[in-house]
Amino acid sequence: MEPRDIEGDLTEILIEEDEIRAKLAELSRRIEADYADKDVLLVGVLKGAVMVMADLARELQIPITMDWMAVSSYGSGTESSGVVRILKDLDTDLTGRHVLIVEDIIDSGLTLSWLMANLNSRGPESIEICALLRKPEAARVDIDVKYFGFDIPNKFVVGYGLDYNEKYRNLRSVGILAPHVYS
Ligand code: XMP
Ligand code: MG
Repeated sequence: MEPRDIEGDLTEILIEEDEIRAKLAELSRRIEADYADKDVLLVGVLKGAVMVMADLARELQIPITMDWMAVSSYGSGTESSGVVRILKDLDTDLTGRHVLIVEDIIDSGLTLSWLMANLNSRGPESIEICALLRKPEAARVDIDVKYFGFDIPNKFVVGYGLDYNEKYRNLRSVGILAPHVYS
């Protein structure tokens, strides 16, 4: 759906659909070059990364494999709890694999730093991160993100996979949620 389909629920559109597409193309060219002679396993973090994963994977002009993990760091609200739980683990053995974690957004960074440590303990050959969005002002841990799309302000955003109470994931762009929706 488009912002006009949820009239009034956004205060601002931050990133348009075509900007996302252009950025994923740019990142894909770098990833193709970096993994030219390696088998890369894309690990998507459910559910937010579904759109990034689908578009990035199709944009990539090299063979890849995909697997998925579901972790919870947020309840139904808008604040990071710092507590991470695995809701669905990978099906793939990571021993000797080149892993590229695909994420929608890095907020405090707590989820990803926990995930990196967890996946690192499984004996992969390499692990890197690709995240579409990053909130620099919200960072609570330092994370080395090799491929990232856009830095955004420290506001709660929805769209392109990102939800509020499971809504707005199918919005094609990324926008700032109007406070009246959650207050
Ligand atoms: P942390 O703080 O651990 O959070 O880096 C990462 C996860 O929290 C979710 N998240 C958001 N979801 N709008 C959302 O819809 C946001 O602005 C937002 N900020 C963080 C997201 O699932 C991410 O993987
Ligand atoms: Mg997520």
